[in-house]
Amino acid sequence: MSSNDRSGAYKDFGRSGIDRTGQAEAFDAISDRYDDAFPHKEGQIADGAWLARELPPGSRILDVGCGTGLPTARQLTDEGHHVTGVDLSSGMLKLSRDNVPEAEFHRLDLADLEQHGLGPFDGIAAFFSLLMLPRQEIPVALRMLHGRLRPSGLLAFSMVEADINDFSIPFLGHTIRVSGYLRDDLRTTVRDAGFEIVGEDVYAYAPASTDVPPEIQLFLRCRRLP
Ligand SMILES: C[S@@+](CC[C@H](N)C(=O)[O-])C[C@H]1O[C@@H](n2cnc3c(N)ncnc32)[C@H](O)[C@@H]1O
Repeated sequence: MSSNDRSGAYKDFGRSGIDRTGQAEAFDAISDRYDDAFPHKEGQIADGAWLARELPPGSRILDVGCGTGLPTARQLTDEGHHVTGVDLSSGMLKLSRDNVPEAEFHRLDLADLEQHGLGPFDGIAAFFSLLMLPRQEIPVALRMLHGRLRPSGLLAFSMVEADINDFSIPFLGHTIRVSGYLRDDLRTTVRDAGFEIVGEDVYAYAPASTDVPPEIQLFLRCRRLP
């Protein structure tokens, strides 16, 4: 069966011509500088606290594109939850294993999560990881995450606000490709994937490095609809 419908929208990752060239390599190369370049993560910490608070103690939480494990995997583990982190970059994962030895980590493209049989989860954190996908894959990824959640499970989701698709930006001496939406389009995309948005925040964020542009960060707190 084709992975495209007549409108050209991707239904699954199977035939989407995924090109991750350079994405993991960039994060491998900058992993030891990443946390210094992105300090002061108030929005992310607030939504991690929401996830930790709303879910019963001992819940299973997936951290998609977990990066260095800081702050999110560490925060959720400290609050008594069982965290599974996945990331494409072995450099980032090495740090996450050091930072959060109690959690479980897998080097995995998020597109392969379903085939890997991970889940179901009570909650999912996806902070600034789906923006690494070409735009046509983002609705697919959200529907896949919906399928990895238990009914009424929670998703803490953040993106950078920008009307761009697979756009190259400078990133700590490397180049990465990122995608984004304006906030109304992001809300529509999240709702179309089967989530209710129960809260949101917007932050103006200036990374510590001049090699990364300032950004508007959108944080959506979501609940899986049946
Ligand atoms: C901008 S960082 C965010 C890290 C962390 N979530 C945070 O907010 O601090 C994006 C992370 O997503 C990972 N990543 C990029 N593409 C991915 C993919 N297709 N599957 C899994 N992880 C991916 C990168 O290696 C990187 O660690």
